[in-house]
Amino acid sequence: MSVEETETEVLLTHKNGSTVRILKFGANVLSWQLADKTEKLWLSTAAKLDGSKAVRGGIPLVFPVFGKSKDPDHPTFPLPQHGFARNSHWEFLGQTTESPLAVQFGLGPENVDPESLKLWDKGQNDFTLILTVALDEESLKTTIDVENTGKHDFEFNWLFHTYNRVPDITDVLVTNFTDAKCYDQLLAEEYSEKAPIISFHEEFDRIYKDVEQHKIAQIVDKGKVLTEVHRENLPDCVVWNPWIKKSEGMGDFEPKSGYHNMLCIEPGHVGDFYKLASGKKWTASQELVSGGEIKVQTNIFS
Ligand code: BG6
Repeated sequence: MSVEETETEVLLTHKNGSTVRILKFGANVLSWQLADKTEKLWLSTAAKLDGSKAVRGGIPLVFPVFGKSKDPDHPTFPLPQHGFARNSHWEFLGQTTESPLAVQFGLGPENVDPESLKLWDKGQNDFTLILTVALDEESLKTTIDVENTGKHDFEFNWLFHTYNRVPDITDVLVTNFTDAKCYDQLLAEEYSEKAPIISFHEEFDRIYKDVEQHKIAQIVDKGKVLTEVHRENLPDCVVWNPWIKKSEGMGDFEPKSGYHNMLCIEPGHVGDFYKLASGKKWTASQELVSGGEIKVQTNIFS
C-alpha cells in the first residue's frame, strides 16, 4: 500500500498492485488500473492536464450545475456547462484509511476562481466539498460530502462524470434501466425506457431519473460483466457516448476513434436540484466494481 504525492497528482497503490491516479486539478481521477494492469477508465490522449481546461476523461466532478441551467431565474443559470468543480484546484488532504486505501481532497470558495464563484448566486454561497477516493482489490469508490457552511440555503446538482473504458462500444450492453424515466437530451423528449438492455449504434445522451438505488448498471462486454456501477444517494444516471460527429467537434477528444473505447455512465443528482439548508451536510457515492455476473433487475415481480 502506498500513497505518493507529486506537485500535480496523487498515486495510490494497493497491496495487490492495483493503482489509481488522481489529478489535483478538478480532483479528477485519471486512471484506475487493476492488479493485472487492465485500465478501467478512458482518458483522451489530448486531455489537458495543466489546469487550462476540464479533463476529458477519467472521473470529472460536476458541481453545482449539470449541463447549462435552462431556467434564467435559477441561481446556477449564469454558470458555465457542468459548473466549476472540475475546473478548480482541489486541496489534497491526505490519506484517511489503509483498507480500503483512501485519500481525500477538499474544495471551498477560496479554491475557486473568483470570477466563476460570482456566477453562482452572486458568490454568496459558502460550502465545503470533500471527495474521498477509496481503492480496494477490485473496486473504486468515490464519495462526495457537501456541507453548507454559509448563512443561506443553496441548491445544487452533483454528478460523477465517469468515462469507462470499453474494448469496443458496439459489443457493449448496459443492464437495468428498463422502465426508468428517461429524458433523451438529443430528442428533447421524456419517456419510459422500454429497451430490456441498452445497446449503442449512434450518439447516445440520456438522463435516467429516479432509478431505484438497488439497481446496478452493469456494463456488459461480449456477454461478460466488465464493470458494475453502484450508487448511494444518487437517484439519476446519465448515459453518454458522443459517437462520430460529436467527438470530431471536441478538440480535446483524441483519438477521434476513441468513442469506440469509452462509455460514460454518470451517477448523479441532476433530475432536479438538491436543496441544502444552512449548516447541513449531504453525502453520496459511486462505486465501480470490476467483473461480476449478469443480474437482471426488473420490476415485473414488484
Ligand atoms: C454529458 C452530457 O454528461 O456530458 C452531454 O449529457 C455532454 O450532453 C457531455 O455533451 C460532455 O460535456 P462536456 O462539457 O465535458 O463537453
